[in-house]
Amino acid sequence: MTTLVDSFGRIHKDLRISLTDRCNLRCSYCMPAEGLQWLNQADVLSAGEIVRVARLLVQYGGITSVRLTGGEPTVRADLLEIVEQLSQLGVDLSLTTNGTRLVKLAERLKVAGLNRMNISIDSLQPQRFAELTHRDQCEQVLDGINAAVGAGFSAVKLNVVLMRGINDDEILDFLHFGRKHGVIVRFIEFMPLDAHDKWNETLVVPEREILATAGEVFAFTRGERGSAPSSRFFYNDGVGEFGVISSVSAPFCDSCDRIRLTSDGQLRNCLFATRHLDVKSLLRSDTDNETIIQAIRGEVQKKEAGHNIGNVYFVKPSKSMSQIGG
Ligand code: 5AD
Ligand code: SF4
Repeated sequence: MTTLVDSFGRIHKDLRISLTDRCNLRCSYCMPAEGLQWLNQADVLSAGEIVRVARLLVQYGGITSVRLTGGEPTVRADLLEIVEQLSQLGVDLSLTTNGTRLVKLAERLKVAGLNRMNISIDSLQPQRFAELTHRDQCEQVLDGINAAVGAGFSAVKLNVVLMRGINDDEILDFLHFGRKHGVIVRFIEFMPLDAHDKWNETLVVPEREILATAGEVFAFTRGERGSAPSSRFFYNDGVGEFGVISSVSAPFCDSCDRIRLTSDGQLRNCLFATRHLDVKSLLRSDTDNETIIQAIRGEVQKKEAGHNIGNVYFVKPSKSMSQIGG
């Protein structure tokens, strides 16, 4: 079996599939309050098309891990069916969700074969949560986190995008919460992928500041980073770990092993890619598997060295995170 390798020698093993561009929340950095112009359903890949691409990439491209993202993947009615079929490919299967529908879904996702779950939550305070997401659903997400822990996934992680002056006063609250509930909190540096250009460098809370705040209360030791983008920190008292995804202050592009399939069937070799391969057209024009996999290999080969944030050459992608998939 051959692998998906780019011109810098990076081997790609991690496939992120966005199941939809829609979402039931409106995180202000991601979507305007009125939502975005959603895709027509006819342009969204079907369950069958998604599974076909994933199977090809597992069988002929060396993909070993698949993460389902959105928009919000749980708004898709056939999510359980997709999870069931993908779990049969023998990959490490995970889901990134905003957690609002997990009370109903967590257990069923586990049974369908999902291995791991990441839940996005940027505030533990109901009022602030409502301001940040334009929806009053903090309690629902907290219940969803409990449901995920109760369902027995091999890991439940919380993704917290930190923004200066907005939620950076909750770093310690999140760490206490993670230790109490047995979940791994990961702080994410805010990236320039927001829907309406509110991003600027002063909003980014860099890793060193996060560690300084955490260090006021907790003793911890830095672990191995591996190919995962998150720096890992283990509490010295043995009660778990937390992480920091420092995409801005310390990019992990050198060890990036991800490719992305958007809900409208574009293969993107980077979150910040300004080009893509139209896989949907290939799927819908009777193209054979060999030709599709060759086209994907070619697209991976063209991957850039890194994302250039903070550099004058940086070009913001024309799509927001919810449209590309986190
Ligand atoms: N910067 C950092 N993280 C982001 N996310 C969405 N937009 C951004 C951004 N501009 C996060 C979401 C979720 C994950 C899919 O990506 O909060 O945790
Ligand atoms: Fe929805 Fe995620 Fe965007 Fe928030 S960040 S609006 S949860 S897609």
